[in-house]
Amino acid sequence: MSDNSSKKRQRVLSGVQPSGNLTIGNYLGALKQWAREQQHFESFFCVVDLHAITVPHDPQELRDKTREVAALYLACGIDPEVSTVFVQSHVRAHSELTWLLNCITPLGWLQRMTQYKDKSAKQQQDSVSTGLLDYPVLMAADILLYHADAVPVGDDQRQHLELTRDIAQRFNHLFGETLTIPEAMIPLSGARIKALDDPLSKMSKSETGSEYHALYLLDPPNRVKKKLMRAVTDSGRDIQFSDDPERAGVNNLLELYAALTEQEHTTVEAHFANARGYGDLKKELVEVTNEVLAGIQQKYQALTAEEGYIDELLARGAERACEVADATLATVRERMGFLKAHA
Ligand code: TYM
Repeated sequence: MSDNSSKKRQRVLSGVQPSGNLTIGNYLGALKQWAREQQHFESFFCVVDLHAITVPHDPQELRDKTREVAALYLACGIDPEVSTVFVQSHVRAHSELTWLLNCITPLGWLQRMTQYKDKSAKQQQDSVSTGLLDYPVLMAADILLYHADAVPVGDDQRQHLELTRDIAQRFNHLFGETLTIPEAMIPLSGARIKALDDPLSKMSKSETGSEYHALYLLDPPNRVKKKLMRAVTDSGRDIQFSDDPERAGVNNLLELYAALTEQEHTTVEAHFANARGYGDLKKELVEVTNEVLAGIQQKYQALTAEEGYIDELLARGAERACEVADATLATVRERMGFLKAHA
C-alpha cells in the first residue's frame, strides 16, 4: 500500500449564512473552491442558520433562505454523494460546544473582532445582541467539531479563523491535546470581491441599500448587464490591475473577470491591451458572468423543482454530521470533567 492510500483524508468544513441573496463574492470566495476541492478532502458544508439570527430576522425568510442556500451549494457544484451537506441547527452539538468554548474564551478576544465592530456600529447600541458578539465562538465550534484541517473561505473570514485557532490552542493547553488546529484556505483569485457601487467596500449579501451594490447568483441576465454597465469606475482608460484606491473599481471588474475565466492577471491584461475603454471590459464581463450564472441557475431550477429533494438530502447530511460532531463533543465533555449521563 502506498503512503498516500494509507493516510486519512484531510477534512474540510465551511458554511454560508442564509441571511440574504448569495452573491458572486460568496461564489468566487467560497463555493467555487469548495466544489473544486471536494474530491481531495472529506468535506462538510453547512448552512449556518444559527449565525443568521445574530441580527434581527424574519422566521419565514430564514426557512426559505436555508433551503435556497442548500440548493445553491449543489447548483454551484457540491456533490452530495461526495460531500456532507447539512444545516447547522440540525446538529445540536454546535450549540453545546459553543457554550463550552464560551467559558474559555476571553471577552476581550471577541470585542476586538472587526466584523463585530462593523456590524454593531450599524445597529442601535441597545439592540446589538449577545449572539452577535459570540458569533465567532459559534463559528469556532462549527470548525472544531469536525476536526477540520482546512477551512475554505474568502479573505474577510481570516480573523475569525485566527480566533478559532487561538480557542483550540487554549483548549488543548488547558485540557490536553484534543482539538485540531485548522488552517484558512483562501483562494488566490476572487477572495475579496468589492461592491459594484462602492469598490472600496466588500460586496455583501446583507447590504441591501442600493440595487447596484451586488451581483446575485440568481440575478437574470438583463439585471446583471444593468448592474455591471453601471459599476463605478474612474475617468482613466487603462485596463490594468492596480492597488491604487482611485482605480479600485476597474481593479474589481478585472478581478471578477480573472476569477470567472480562471485566467492569470497577465493574460487578462494582455487580452484587454487593445480595448477602447472600460466599456469593452464591462461588455465582456457581462458575457462571462451570465455564462457562469446560467449554468448555476439551470441546476438550481432543476433541483428545486423536485419537491422534498433538498429536505431529504439535508436530513441525510445531518445524520452523518451528527456522527462526527457528537463523537468530538463527547471527548470534549469528558476532558472538561463532565459526568456521563448514563453509567
Ligand atoms: P458569509 O455568509 O458572510 O459568507 C460566506 C462565504 O463567502 C465569502 N465571501 C466573500 N468572498 C469574496 N468576496 C466577497 N465579497 C465575499 N463575501 C463573502 C466569505 O468569506 C465566506 O467564506 N462567518 C461566515 C460563515 C461561517 C463559517 C463557519 C465559515 C459560519 N461558520 C465555519 C467557515 C467555517 C460568514 O459570515 O460567511
